[in-house]
Amino acid sequence: MADNPVKISDTTFRDAHQSLIATRLRIEDMEPIAAEMDSMGFYSMEVWGGATFDVTTRFLGEDPWERLRTFRKLIPNTKLSMLLRGQSLVGYRAYADDVVHAFVQHSAETGIDIFRVFDALNDVWNLETAAAEVVKSGKHLQMAICYSVTESGRLGGDIFNLDYFLGKARQFVELGADSIAIKDMAGLLAPYDAFELVTALKAELKVPLQLHTHYTSGMASMTALKAIEAGVDIVDACLSPLALRTSQPAVEPLVVTLRDTERDSGLDFDKLVKMSDYLETALPRYKSFMESPRAAVIDPRVLKHQIPGGMTSNLVSQLREADALDRLDDVLSEIPKTRKDLGYPPLVTPTSQMVGSQSVSNVLFGRYKMVSGQVKDYVYGLYGRPPAPIESEVMQTALKDYEKGQTPISEKPSATLEPEMDRARDAVKDISSDTGDVLIYALYPTTGLKFLHIKHGQEEMPEDMKNVGRVTPTTPAPQKQAAVQETPAASEFARTFNVFVDGERFEVVVDPVGGEERPQAPQGGKPAKQSEKPKQKVKTSHPDAGPDDVVMPAPMPGLLLRYLVEEGAAVNTGDSLVVMEAMKMENTLPATASGTVKKLTLVAGASVKKGDVLAIITP
Ligand code: CO
Repeated sequence: MADNPVKISDTTFRDAHQSLIATRLRIEDMEPIAAEMDSMGFYSMEVWGGATFDVTTRFLGEDPWERLRTFRKLIPNTKLSMLLRGQSLVGYRAYADDVVHAFVQHSAETGIDIFRVFDALNDVWNLETAAAEVVKSGKHLQMAICYSVTESGRLGGDIFNLDYFLGKARQFVELGADSIAIKDMAGLLAPYDAFELVTALKAELKVPLQLHTHYTSGMASMTALKAIEAGVDIVDACLSPLALRTSQPAVEPLVVTLRDTERDSGLDFDKLVKMSDYLETALPRYKSFMESPRAAVIDPRVLKHQIPGGMTSNLVSQLREADALDRLDDVLSEIPKTRKDLGYPPLVTPTSQMVGSQSVSNVLFGRYKMVSGQVKDYVYGLYGRPPAPIESEVMQTALKDYEKGQTPISEKPSATLEPEMDRARDAVKDISSDTGDVLIYALYPTTGLKFLHIKHGQEEMPEDMKNVGRVTPTTPAPQKQAAVQETPAASEFARTFNVFVDGERFEVVVDPVGGEERPQAPQGGKPAKQSEKPKQKVKTSHPDAGPDDVVMPAPMPGLLLRYLVEEGAAVNTGDSLVVMEAMKMENTLPATASGTVKKLTLVAGASVKKGDVLAIITP
């Protein structure tokens, strides 16, 4: 036995598959090895939280609480850990304190031993309630510091220097932390910086220190080794089939590297390989969720643009929708500028999406010509305090027409929230009174409600939900990418559509090819200009639409969240009419014509295909 064995926390059942196959790994593919993983001697296993809660309910039709119970049953000896996004829990906005209370207590009762709590901005305001609840539950509170750097790419400089991280560690210990983690979500922590940072933190801290890093840039194994040399107590790693790329370092080579040193992990290499062999057989079923195969398993460019793994694919899909994939390099160089403007937020959910989407919009439409709702909320202070001040011009632009006000708040964002649990209990009382179910609804009122209907047999489980991870490898994956074709010049009949992706608006010009009917539509949010050409009727595609009515088609697939007007209301072009959700972002769609709302064609919660009629307006 080594003098000071490094402890290994295994992330295979959570972060590893979240990083590489969009969190789709089903419980049925983890169950066969869960008991053996329990016997491995890991310090802990991260099995829950982060995106697993959302993905199980939204895409897998699987009860996340049941998943946790299954793990607890099969893994009685190893500590189970979860990732918790501070006041945002496992969601994307700050929830009221009573939801935080209920969620932490229920998670503790259901089987979580270690809560790893973080905030994208490392803001204590967003952490203190969750931390206090974990302390109250009697479970292990691990506070994670999001690691970030500025353009230099290294530890130091004016913002993310040693003092910053030591200061955060002190604040976090005051919140009651039983351990501290360095959370390097984009693989930016360089090996020698890790040595310096771990040395300094170990000298300061009385509680254990853990390193969580990602392989994205290719440094993670070296970083882990230097951190171990500097005395880090616990290191995150995972089984090799789900390691490297944007995931964690592989556990097997780490175990061999440390063998017979004073930090020998003591783990059994052969047993680990057996587990990995099993995963090799299960993973091909998830192939369609893997990012497009590149020759390199690492992305050294991340050292420049600092975008965490999952984000790059998000950017690619946004640009593809806007038929602007050729602007990817421009977007990647815009990101550091946008991030600087916004006060250098560390790039992790949700700030990574925010900065990424805003950068796309800055490149496609001009800088801050369009500001997403999320960025407005952020600038207003609803996500907490950024590490550096927000550029004042950007702040003014962002808040110019912002409905909540032009001066940012100067208090804890959640302080303004009313309790939410009673309302949630009431909303689902006809379906269930189970606390887990109520929390699913409280966290995701739309997708959560749909899940509860399915779970309680009030709705059939959709085929695509049943099929995830169960499709045989021979089944062709749906074609996502349309071939980029050479663009002919737009004709006079071309019309401009708004397409919303991830909360961002893209203008797409559509030019009908040789059709007889040339639809007329308002352009760019302004009332339609009367042209010299004879006015043509909009081709209606809804039985309730009369010949003069304007139908409003969905510009993207998604979920209908709510209508903002009632039938019979008078609207003007550009008025907010309906809220849809696509890829976790809310998008408010404006009326495409002025007139009276004749019919709101769908109900809240309906899943919408692109082109489905959302509303009919009589001009
Ligand atoms: Co991670």
